[in-house]
Amino acid sequence: MDSKTSAILADLEKTAEDFWNVSHQTGNFISMLIKATGAKNVLELGTSNGYSGLWIADALQYTNGHLTTIEFWEKRQCLAREYINQCGLSDYVTFKIGQAYDIITTELTEEKYDLVFIDANKQEYIKFFEAVHPLLKKGGIILADNITSHASKVKPFVDAISNHKEYQVQVLDLPDGLLMAYKL
Ligand SMILES: C[S@@+](CC[C@H](N)C(=O)[O-])C[C@H]1O[C@@H](n2cnc3c(N)ncnc32)[C@H](O)[C@@H]1O
Repeated sequence: MDSKTSAILADLEKTAEDFWNVSHQTGNFISMLIKATGAKNVLELGTSNGYSGLWIADALQYTNGHLTTIEFWEKRQCLAREYINQCGLSDYVTFKIGQAYDIITTELTEEKYDLVFIDANKQEYIKFFEAVHPLLKKGGIILADNITSHASKVKPFVDAISNHKEYQVQVLDLPDGLLMAYKL
């Protein structure tokens, strides 16, 4: 990672609570996972100000991949665009504005993803999962944040994916709890 990107990430960590960003550890883990698996086509639900997107886009520079990230709050998306731009990562990111479920089920139906990161409205995780399942390649990975911090809200999703024959699932002991699911 270049010094500009790590400086912006460090700066954004000061306001992480205001923008509901993942932890530094979670961002670092997602980045390593993308590099280790060689993931190229990545989808993120919940851009916020682009903190996790910076980690992801930086890793995709390494794998020569691409991130599509969805956010319905325009102000936040503008901030994310600005930071991604400042880090010279714009070529690696497509920003979509609107309701994540609607965009997945209308605009992204032809896509096949290596990795999907779910980090938008917690009560909709189950809906997001049902929508992204057909778009995830075999051998692909779903990550979902806030599994322990918002346990009751995400329970329908955790139950569904844990009992799904096509997924091997583990909740990782990262801040807020990160679920990782491998599509068999
Ligand atoms: C937890 S934050 C995302 C944090 C970001 N992944 C990061 O770590 O930097 C969740 C974001 O998802 C957005 N959001 C929530 N529900 C959404 C939905 N149904 N469709 C699109 N965006 C949504 C919120 O506006 C918020 O900015």
